[in-house]
Amino acid sequence: MKTSEIRQKFLSFFESKGHQIVPSSPLVPGNDPTLLFTNAGMVQFKDVFTGKDTRPYHRATTAQRCVRAGGKHNDLENVGYTARHHTFFEMLGNFSFGDYFKQDAIRYAWTLLTEIYGLPKEKLWVTVYQEDDEAYDIWAKQVGVPVERIIRIGDNKGARYASDNFWQMADTGPCGPCSEIFYDHGPDIWGGPPGSPEEDGDRYIEIWNLVFMQFERDAQGNMNPLPKPCVDTGMGLERIAAVLQHVHSNYEIDLFQNLIRAAARETGATDLGDNSLKVIADHIRACSFLVVDGVIPGNEGRGYVLRRIIRRALRHGHKLGQKGVFFYRLVADLVAQMGAAYPELAAQQARVEQVLRQEEERFGETLENGMRILEAALAELPVGQALDGQTLFTLYDTYGFPVDLTADICRERKIAVDLDGFEHAMAHQREQARAAGKFKAAAGLSYDGVATRFDGYEHLQGQASVTALYVDGTAVPSIAQGQDAVVVLDATPFYAESGGQVGDTGLISNAAARFQVADTQKIQSTVFGHHGSLLEGTLSVGDVVGTQVDEQRRADTMRNHSATHLMHKALRQVLGEHVQQRGSLVDPEKTRFDFAHDAPMTPEQIARVEAIVNDEVLANQAVRTQHLSYDEAVAGGAMALFGEKYGDVVRVLDIGFSRELCGGTHVARTG
Ligand code: ALA
Repeated sequence: MKTSEIRQKFLSFFESKGHQIVPSSPLVPGNDPTLLFTNAGMVQFKDVFTGKDTRPYHRATTAQRCVRAGGKHNDLENVGYTARHHTFFEMLGNFSFGDYFKQDAIRYAWTLLTEIYGLPKEKLWVTVYQEDDEAYDIWAKQVGVPVERIIRIGDNKGARYASDNFWQMADTGPCGPCSEIFYDHGPDIWGGPPGSPEEDGDRYIEIWNLVFMQFERDAQGNMNPLPKPCVDTGMGLERIAAVLQHVHSNYEIDLFQNLIRAAARETGATDLGDNSLKVIADHIRACSFLVVDGVIPGNEGRGYVLRRIIRRALRHGHKLGQKGVFFYRLVADLVAQMGAAYPELAAQQARVEQVLRQEEERFGETLENGMRILEAALAELPVGQALDGQTLFTLYDTYGFPVDLTADICRERKIAVDLDGFEHAMAHQREQARAAGKFKAAAGLSYDGVATRFDGYEHLQGQASVTALYVDGTAVPSIAQGQDAVVVLDATPFYAESGGQVGDTGLISNAAARFQVADTQKIQSTVFGHHGSLLEGTLSVGDVVGTQVDEQRRADTMRNHSATHLMHKALRQVLGEHVQQRGSLVDPEKTRFDFAHDAPMTPEQIARVEAIVNDEVLANQAVRTQHLSYDEAVAGGAMALFGEKYGDVVRVLDIGFSRELCGGTHVARTG
């Protein structure tokens, strides 16, 4: 049975049992900062299990694309060296949201495996959670599995992941006891049943995990019961395909064999059993789907995981003798294998090729040089010694070798690497960079008075009282003419620098004093510091003052900030939805907007963005501000920056065709 047919039969079976077939969600989980990548089928349903979200169905089934690299459940290092590890894999699953529970979950799994997939019953073993008598009895009495093939596993309550029959997605989230189904590959292969001393052998392989979701673990480690018990199951498509295709390694299934042949074609390798071909075949899947889902190779977070996987694949190509670009050409082969099941992959083929090709070209130049440095260092290394941290760091910093890439090469030659030394060299460099940078004076002022009430959305002037004064970082009761100081007020119309928009300037004054504000910076999240100098008189804590923002400068800044929102939206229309603000600076003269894209913009693209923004300006639409709950805002299409912290209530700005969460100050009409 071909992999595509196995996937389809799974979905159709559960559809016939009243399950909604739901498309795979992207690899980047929506609005879930607890996870780097989607690592299981249940991720898109996390809030449905906990009752925070509801769906029009109570039963669902999916083939979910997953990545287990770079976060919890990280398999990157093992890929290529074992029969069953992947960075990218597909998880087949069925889910019950407070509908059926253990009995039906077990029965469905058994029927599918033995009747639809036709697996011999005597080859299947099952495990249950130590104390789960209910699951044990269902297997033994209702399904009729002989008790010698039902094994109780683990009461290790501290264990977090699947090994002890208690499954949890990440440090927090829904979890529960599970029951696993194993396939016995036969006595020719070494290994013992689960729970036995030889369980790590390859004879008994877990193929399906049935999780009986009952709790949500919170950040304090408490197990709170879910509103209703649920079911979450996961079966690795590649594993079940290996079983059904009577092969032992996942890399021998039809899908991988086709990719391995393609990798051999592109690298000139002749031994189809070479581990480097497995690495490349695995990595082209992870890399292509990560790009499809909006990740771009970069130096941090998800982008860096992607870069590491690409570079690992390129290095294995290099090892096979391919010194030129080749990796991106495998995208077409992948589309031939998986494009029908994942239309989003087929649709973005050209873009994926372009992103991968660009990264290949960029790294190709340094790979060769870096390998030369590394070879020289290894040649001089005394036997038995680890590669030193400084060389690891130079390879990383100058030649773009992620440290796990260097470690991968060393591992092949049975050489250890000095990771502590690498961390030390990194820390040293960071320290130097920090010393070179300069700090905002506002940080580190101690203040325990009232928060500042900001009324600068509506007014540019007002009245306030002075709640604190600082000179050279120290609180003082009053300041005299000519002194530089930071003034804190109980209320202010001065905008403090945030979200890229610079702080306001202006005047704080009364009959006895005039304080010129040169900048406004937050000293705490809700306390604003007005930086400047006292032009005349004296100013003391408790004084009542008038406030006046520099109106022209604020108006110029606002225009640039509103234009930034329009440009952000236009960039997404012209370049794609992957464009997201990574940084920004808005001041009276200009706007600077940082985003990640795989190529420089062409003059035509720039012209199109300009034209779109100008159309919005000419339409002269009124700007609308609303305060909504975070969920309402995002449901309404507002762009939220992933990884940013937002409060429960957020400020939503509609400017022309754009909608963003933003605390900045903006114009009243796009004109
Ligand atoms: N979520 C479960 C797993 O990943 C099914 O094993």
